[in-house]
Amino acid sequence: MIKPHGDKLIDRVDTSYHPDENDERIQLDDMALSDLELIATGAYSPLTGFLKEPDYQAVVDGMRLDSGLPWSIPITLPVEAEVASRLRIHDTVNLVYDETIYGVMSIEDIFTPDKDVEAAKVFQTTDQGHPGVKKLYERPNVYLGGPVTLVKFPPKAAFSDGYHLEPIQTREKITEFGWKSVVGFQTRNPVHRAHEYIQKTALENVDGLLLHPLVGETKAGDIPSDLRMECYQILLENYYPADRVFLSVFPAAMRYAGPREAVFHALVRKNYGCTHFIVGRDHAGVGDYYGTYDAQKIFDQFSEEEIGITILRFENSFFCRKCEGMGTSKTCPHGKEHHIALSGTKVRKMLREGNMPPKQFSRPEVASKLIEGMAETVSEMRSNT
Ligand code: ADX
Repeated sequence: MIKPHGDKLIDRVDTSYHPDENDERIQLDDMALSDLELIATGAYSPLTGFLKEPDYQAVVDGMRLDSGLPWSIPITLPVEAEVASRLRIHDTVNLVYDETIYGVMSIEDIFTPDKDVEAAKVFQTTDQGHPGVKKLYERPNVYLGGPVTLVKFPPKAAFSDGYHLEPIQTREKITEFGWKSVVGFQTRNPVHRAHEYIQKTALENVDGLLLHPLVGETKAGDIPSDLRMECYQILLENYYPADRVFLSVFPAAMRYAGPREAVFHALVRKNYGCTHFIVGRDHAGVGDYYGTYDAQKIFDQFSEEEIGITILRFENSFFCRKCEGMGTSKTCPHGKEHHIALSGTKVRKMLREGNMPPKQFSRPEVASKLIEGMAETVSEMRSNT
């Protein structure tokens, strides 16, 4: 079994811990709540808590923790200055969401970040039209650093019932399957033919596939995770060998940080037990902020040993009418006019209007489910207004 990042799978879950109700309460947002769970269950190994300033600076400036280990996304706990002014180093605070204490944290650092620098380095832009940058500026301005303990698991979404496995459980499952090599696939979208093509191309060379959709906070306009889960199940039942793939959710929030997030996604999937990780075109990108293959090129800044999980890079994939099959510029000699390529925006518009995208783009069973699901979402929105 592949070693976790930093060699040790972090476990900071203690559900028998009784927090002191009199301790200061720190309100978590959705992103911080999911980060708390992911730190505690070891998905973010070697992190044991929210970043303290030396680690934060090293991550922002050079994509490494203070120890030198690669880490590309700052995992931070922002609070209002007024809350921070009541806190002292060594205080223990309760981490609260919706009136419930989910964790405790020992405060080891309180610092004010330079968000312009963070945005420019992590997202390569300070433009608030970028959803990750907008979120960064919306969050409060002082960061708390220190180790956390998860004292209560956040409620798992109903749709993820049976599919919400922690890193240790994912590792057990991989052992059960007897896989020596397993490729992780990150996605925030329904799985289309291009995704299927790159997954199955990878599967020709590794023992198993972990389909690992991100189901934490995403931007408005992305397809809701419950609907996506139904689509993944339909797809796996109809088109994948049951003994070579399993589906489990990744409860993190999406940052849309493109290249930096690709590194983060890969390291985290190593913690879940994957030996390989797929990075295709514009991984974790949004709009035109990143070059099509920037999320692949960024791995050149690290040695293979320090990343520790093998990156499988894929070119832009499409269905070619002349080839009558899927391919990329590496395998198909025909011009663009023969390729079926649809933008996400165009597909969402088609689905909202009840039109099936071509079967070369999306499996019809999946497209029908999306049309049905999106019609329900629209009618729910109407009845709520
Ligand atoms: S992401 O934000 O999670 O990266 P998405 O779910 O669309 O978005 O992509 C999942 C993975 O598939 C990423 O590695 C992405 O680079 C890759 N990918 C998506 N579409 C294509 C495509 N047409 N060709 C090659 N790779 C793709």
